[in-house]
Amino acid sequence: MKNRYFIKAYGCQMNLYEAGVVSAIMDQAGFEQTESETDADIIYLITCSVRNHAEQRALGRFNYFKGMKKDKPGLIIGILGCMAQSYKDKLNTEHGADIVAGPDQYRILPELINTFQQTQIPQNATSFSCENYEGIMPRNKSKTTGFISIMRGCNNYCTYCIVPYVRGRERSKSLDQIIKEAEILVQSGVQDITLVGQNVLAWRQDNLDFLDLIKAVDKLDGYTRLRFITSHPKDLTQRHIQTFASLKKFCAHIHLPIQSGSDRILQLMNRGYTCAEYIEKVETARKIIPELSFTTDILVGFPSETEADFQKTIWVIKQLQFDFAYMFRYSERPYTKSRDLNDKVPEQTRRQRLTDLIQTQNQITARKSSELLGRQMQVLVESKNGTQAYARTRTNKIVIIKEPVKTGQTYLCQIDKIVGWTPIGKILETIKQEEVL
Ligand code: SAH
Ligand code: SF4
Ligand code: F3S
Repeated sequence: MKNRYFIKAYGCQMNLYEAGVVSAIMDQAGFEQTESETDADIIYLITCSVRNHAEQRALGRFNYFKGMKKDKPGLIIGILGCMAQSYKDKLNTEHGADIVAGPDQYRILPELINTFQQTQIPQNATSFSCENYEGIMPRNKSKTTGFISIMRGCNNYCTYCIVPYVRGRERSKSLDQIIKEAEILVQSGVQDITLVGQNVLAWRQDNLDFLDLIKAVDKLDGYTRLRFITSHPKDLTQRHIQTFASLKKFCAHIHLPIQSGSDRILQLMNRGYTCAEYIEKVETARKIIPELSFTTDILVGFPSETEADFQKTIWVIKQLQFDFAYMFRYSERPYTKSRDLNDKVPEQTRRQRLTDLIQTQNQITARKSSELLGRQMQVLVESKNGTQAYARTRTNKIVIIKEPVKTGQTYLCQIDKIVGWTPIGKILETIKQEEVL
C-alpha cells in the first residue's frame, strides 16, 4: 500500500504548526510520515504567499519534486497552504499538482488522496470554512518547544498583505482545546510553549480575552516558558504589559511589527497607529519590564514611500534599538488594496533602501548582542548539532554552548564570547525545574 507521506513546510509559524495538524489527520487515516523525501509516496508542500519570492521558492521546490516522478511514476504531490488558497485550481491545471488543498481543507486530505489514487483525477479543495481544527492534537516534533495556534485568519486588512485573503476571517480556538493542547505538550516534556496566530491579542471567547487565556495557560504546571507571536501594535496596551509582568512563565520578549516610521505610510498601510503611539507603547513597556526585548518587522518601498518617509523609518529604528528585525522590500500581492495605489517605488530604490536599512539594523543588533558579554543568564537547550548546542534565553536570544549538555534542560551560563552576533555561553550550573526564572 502506498501510504508514506513527507511534508515540507514554508512560511510562518502557522504553517509549521499546521504541518503537525496535517500529520495528525494523515496518521489517523492510516498513513505514515517519513522524514525522507525519497522514501515518500506522497509529498505535501505547505506554502506561503506573503511575498512573490516565497511563492517562487515553493514552486521551485515543487518542480524539483515533480522531477522525481520520472523515477517514481506513482508519486503524488500536493500543494497545501496559502498558495493553494490563492492560486486555486491553476495549481492543478497550469502547474500539474495532483492535490491542491487550502488551509481550511486539511481534514479531507485522506479522502483527496484516496480519490486521486482511484481516479487519477487531480483534486482541488480550496473553499473557506470557519475551520479551527478543534479536536485535533497536532504532532509536535520537538521534545522541548511547542506551538499552539490559538486563532486563525486575520481581519486587519493591512493594505499590502495577502493573509486575510488566503486565511479568511479571524476565528479563535476554544480555551478548552488550547488548554488540552498545552497539557499534551507538557506531558511530552515540552518546556517552552508559544501561542501563535496572526494577531494573538485579538483572541476572544465570549467575555474572555487574550489576557484571560494567557493567564490560564500560565497557571498550568510542568513547564517553564510561555511566549506568543504575533501581536499587533494597535491592540497592545499598558494593561497587557502589566499582566505579562505578573505571569510566572512569560518570557520577556515581544515581537511587535512596526512596518514603517512614517505616519503617512502607516496610514496608507491601514495599520491603525502612528509612529509616536508605537514609540510610546515600547517605552512604557520597557519601564514596566526593563529586561523586555523587542523584535519587529519592517517593510520598505511601499507605494509612494519617499526618501523622507524612509528616513523616518531609519530614525525610529535607531531610536527604539530593536533586538532584531525581519526586514522586507514591498512585494505587490494579488487581492490587496495597495495594488491600486499609484506611485510605485522603483525596484532598484526598494533594493537600495532595504540594503541601507539592513546595514543600520545590523549595527544595532550587533551592539545589543555585545551587551550580553560577561552576563550570567538562564538558557534552555533546544537542540544539538554535533558538539554544539543551541540554547535560548527568556529574551529570545540564541546562545551557543560548546560543552556536553542535555536537550530540554535549563542551565545558568555566562556569556564569555560573542562571535558575529552570536553569544557563546559557558555553563555554570544546572537549574532544577522549580528554580527556573
Ligand atoms: N500578522 C503579522 C505579520 C504577518 S506577515 C503582523 O501583523 O505583524 C509577516 C511580515 O511580512 C509582515 O509583518 C510584513 O512586514 C511582511 N509582509 C507582508 N506583506 C508583505 C508584502 N506584500 N511585501 C513585503 N513584505 C510583506
Ligand atoms: Fe497581514 Fe496585517 Fe493581518 Fe498581519 S495584521 S496578517 S500584516 S493583514
Ligand atoms: Fe505566509 Fe500564509 Fe503565514 S501567506 S506568512 S504562510 S499565513
